[in-house]
Order: sequence, then structure tokens, then C-alpha cells
Amino acid sequence: MSISKQEVVSRYLPEVLQPGTRAEAFAPSNIALCKYWGKRDVELNLPINSSLSISLGDLGSLTSITESEIGVDQVYLNDEALSADSRFAKKVLAFLELFRRELRQPVIVRTTNNIPTAAGLASSASGFAALTLAINDFYGLELSDNCLSAFARMGSGSASRSIYQGFVEWNKGSSVDGMDSCAQQLDYKWPGFRIGLLKVAIGEKKVDSRAGMQRTVESAALYGAWPQQAENDLVTIKRAIVDRDLQLLGQTAEHNALSMHATMIASWPPLLYWQPESVAAMHRVWELRESGVSIYLTMDAGPNLKLIYQQADESRIRDAFPELLDVDIVAPFD
Ligand code: DP6
Repeated sequence: MSISKQEVVSRYLPEVLQPGTRAEAFAPSNIALCKYWGKRDVELNLPINSSLSISLGDLGSLTSITESEIGVDQVYLNDEALSADSRFAKKVLAFLELFRRELRQPVIVRTTNNIPTAAGLASSASGFAALTLAINDFYGLELSDNCLSAFARMGSGSASRSIYQGFVEWNKGSSVDGMDSCAQQLDYKWPGFRIGLLKVAIGEKKVDSRAGMQRTVESAALYGAWPQQAENDLVTIKRAIVDRDLQLLGQTAEHNALSMHATMIASWPPLLYWQPESVAAMHRVWELRESGVSIYLTMDAGPNLKLIYQQADESRIRDAFPELLDVDIVAPFD
């Protein structure tokens, strides 16, 4: 039986909470180069495999918490007041509830995402990381970085990595309470390393990552091969980062993402996040690579592509995708 989130969090809270009047925190979005797909514990969001990502610098979420004067909690997203029973508000308030215990003082939580809407990036990673950091500050919790990452993970797995900038590894951990399942910043820099966000399709996806990975674990026989591949890929990707070997990193990350998608497709009912435009763009990437440009792709649980390359090739990449307007270049280190 899994321990509840509340039980785990309570162990780390001070006896008396001392809320301030205002706190604000920023956390970056991140793109996994070695993906997290599958949970061994749904309550605590503990992953089956470790993962590794790159954070996107100043693209992410800014979250503030202030005292509310009107006697009820209020949640704003991108300056819009949400109704208390909207999905986003419920998720934010349920998470906050884990930390404020008997303290019933109502608060206002405001989250602003500066991720371009055209980028097709999920914001739950940066959102939960920023919320965790803001809660830590607002209630004066003084939690360690490991704890902050583990608690952000309870909101959304990938949020554990958004506590940090740069290359980040989320170790799957093994303890029952999950407190060793947290991310760590890797001490590697790679100036000139680029991520391009290539939006090819719009619209809400029908099955989110949470439901998608659960379905895959429960129904895809191919999933059996995933955990070991992910562990191997993570080691290779780390080596590629140390050596600044784009070819090794790119091919391992692309293979990792497509292997994850293969497990999704092998689920029942099938999960195919790609649109025809995604497949067309994948072919364009492969053609460009065949013409000598060192470019690789990765994809999450959605139709859009993330491109991996180096600054030296940026203009050829922009030239190659003229009608695919939204190549937003993210330069994490420069
Ligand atoms: C494909 O972190 O969004 O983007 O833990 O259920 O909130 P929950 O899932 P989430 O899943 C991310 C899946 C992924 C791969 C990755 O970012 O590692």
C-alpha cells in the first residue's frame, strides 16, 4: 500500500506554519532527452525509470501567492480569474492543501506562463515547480532542494526536473515514501546547444500524459522493454553531454522518444499523439539530416516536435522550415 502524499509532506512541515504576506517564484519549462513514461506509484507519482532533461532558461511559469482579503481562495491563470471548480484551480488548490494543514487563511495564487502559446509545450512541469517554490517561501518551510524537487514531483512528475536550470537528471529512487525520487542539476554546460520548438498542430490532446502512461503500462506488452532502454539511454546521453557529442546525444534522444511512442501505439485503445503534420515534419527533419545538417527530434505526449541541434546550424534549420512558422529557438546556456 502506498503512503499518502499528505503523510509524506506532513513529515517535513514545521510545527507551526508562519505564512508571509507575499511570495513569488519562477521555474523553467523542461524538455526530456531521456523520457519519463510509466509510474510505479500513482499516488506519489513515482516513476518506473529515471529521466534526463534540459531546462528552457527563462521560458516557464511565474507563480505568486498572496493573502486573500475576500475570505476565499482565488486562482488566476495568465491574469484570468478561474472558477473554483475549473480543472486548473482544483489541481492548484489540492496541491496547496497538502502544505497549509489547519491554517485556513485564504490565498490568491497567480500563475503566468511565458511559454509561447505557439510552442505546444505543456506547462504543468514549470507550473508545479514554481508553485512548490512559492509555497516554500510563503509558508517559510525552508525545504532542501531535494525536498522541493520531490514535492514538485507529487504535483507532476516532470516538475521535479523544473526546479533546476541546465541539464537535470531525475533519479527514480527506491524508497517507499519516494523522497529519494528527486531531480538533481548536472554540472555540465554546453554553450551553443539549442532546442527548437516546432509547432505543427494545435488543439487539446484527448488523453493527457498521466492517463496515457497508465494506459501504456497496463496494456502494452512492448512496455516491458522500455525501462531498461531508458536506463541505458540515460547513461549514453550523459556521456554525450560530457563529450559535447551532438550526434550521440541526438540519436539517443530521438531513439528514446520514438521508442516511447512505440509503446504508446502498442497500447489499447491505441495512443497515437502524432498528426499527419507531425509525420511530415519528422520526414523533413530526416531529409535535412541526410543533407548533412546535424539535427534530431524529440516528441512528448502531443503532436509537436522539439528539435535538437547546435547554434552553428541554426540558419540552415530556419531556412529548412520556412512555412512551419514557429521554430522558437531556446538557448539554455548562452
Ligand atoms: C512524455 O510529468 O506530465 O513529457 O507525472 O502524470 O503529471 P504526470 O506526467 P508528466 O509526464 C511527462 C511525460 C513526457 C516525458 C517527460 O517529460 O519526461
